[in-house]
Amino acid sequence: MRFSLRKALRLSRQSFSLKKPHHVQWMLTRRCNYRCKSCDVWRDERPVSELSTEEVKAGLDILRDLGAMELVLSGGNPLLREDIKEIINYASRYFITTIYDNGSQAVNRIDALHNADFVAISLDTLNCKKYDYLKGVTGAWKNALDAVKTLHNNGISVGVSPTISQLNMSEILSFTDHFTERGVPVLYCLYQHDSLAEPMFQIGAKNNELEIVDKIGLASLCDDLIKKKESHNGILITKKMLRALKHLYLTGERAWTCQALQSFFTVDPRGRVAGCHLQKPVASIFDLPKLWKSDKFEVLRREYRQCSKCSYMCYMFYSMHVNVQGNLEIMRDQWKNARTLIAG
Ligand SMILES: C[S@@+](CC[C@H](N)C(=O)[O-])C[C@H]1O[C@@H](n2cnc3c(N)ncnc32)[C@H](O)[C@@H]1O
Ligand code: SF4
Ligand code: SF4
Repeated sequence: MRFSLRKALRLSRQSFSLKKPHHVQWMLTRRCNYRCKSCDVWRDERPVSELSTEEVKAGLDILRDLGAMELVLSGGNPLLREDIKEIINYASRYFITTIYDNGSQAVNRIDALHNADFVAISLDTLNCKKYDYLKGVTGAWKNALDAVKTLHNNGISVGVSPTISQLNMSEILSFTDHFTERGVPVLYCLYQHDSLAEPMFQIGAKNNELEIVDKIGLASLCDDLIKKKESHNGILITKKMLRALKHLYLTGERAWTCQALQSFFTVDPRGRVAGCHLQKPVASIFDLPKLWKSDKFEVLRREYRQCSKCSYMCYMFYSMHVNVQGNLEIMRDQWKNARTLIAG
């Protein structure tokens, strides 16, 4: 993740303002060319309308005016949008802009990725057969490794994003060594299945093979990653989160309160907004300026603070590191990654 010192300074000033949505996850499209075991996106093949380029840009202006700092472009595969280069160029002027790819598109869209602050290539394992099985596509593993190498060699800030599940848990430490020792940071997801009725954007598919049953093993992985952060740069998860995950898996208790629709929210391909992708849509992005400080949103925020229906890492991160103290904790935790984070 590399952004200019000027953008870093502007964002660090902004990060201390309260009541701003720090993080927005925008699922730009439902289209996807993979068939992942963990994911429901591809299973619903009904066509979904998408906002036009100009509408996306108007939405980005609204997010900027609300004070959002970080934008994750996801889906589906956002690189399947023809206009993705224009969207990234526009977004990266204002936000720390991360884009996800399953490894199949990035190599052909390098021109579009030069302005992204961070490209996350999904890759769960160093075992080729296992990965192709998980993705439902022969060649997925090779595509992902080629993408990481090509982007890295082209000076694009690229990392790998493994989704930790029962099937790859035991490999996560060696996987982390492999990439961080080659200067490629690792950004973790944690396998979840979405259990709320009428979600805005269904992702987490129920899959017994992936469900983490070895809770002690997960807790011990958290301990090992905490230790590894002492010797390895590029482990993009905070110690505070690792401690909270360990506590969750050992006791079932959450050490955080969900901050959906406060510190973060999600936008779908049609521009609808929900606290997170598992919740029902509650607004259009174009109505946010009048709704952000409304009673309606305050009621929803209270409801989400009581929710414990998921522990998606991204939502957990933005629930745990929200206030001034949270931002100081990130800075303290990440100072060793500063060279990865800030260019120039
Ligand atoms: C939903 S995908 C969308 C972006 C792109 N299609 C990709 O796969 O990178 C975003 C991330 O979520 C991860 N993911 C998929 N299914 C998941 C699940 N059930 N729980 C947690 N993360 C999941 C993917 O591996 C990927 O890293
Ligand atoms: S995880 Fe990403 S690549 Fe896999 S089916 Fe879902 S959206 Fe597509
Ligand atoms: S815990 Fe938060 S992010 Fe997770 S489903 Fe509930 S409201 Fe959404």
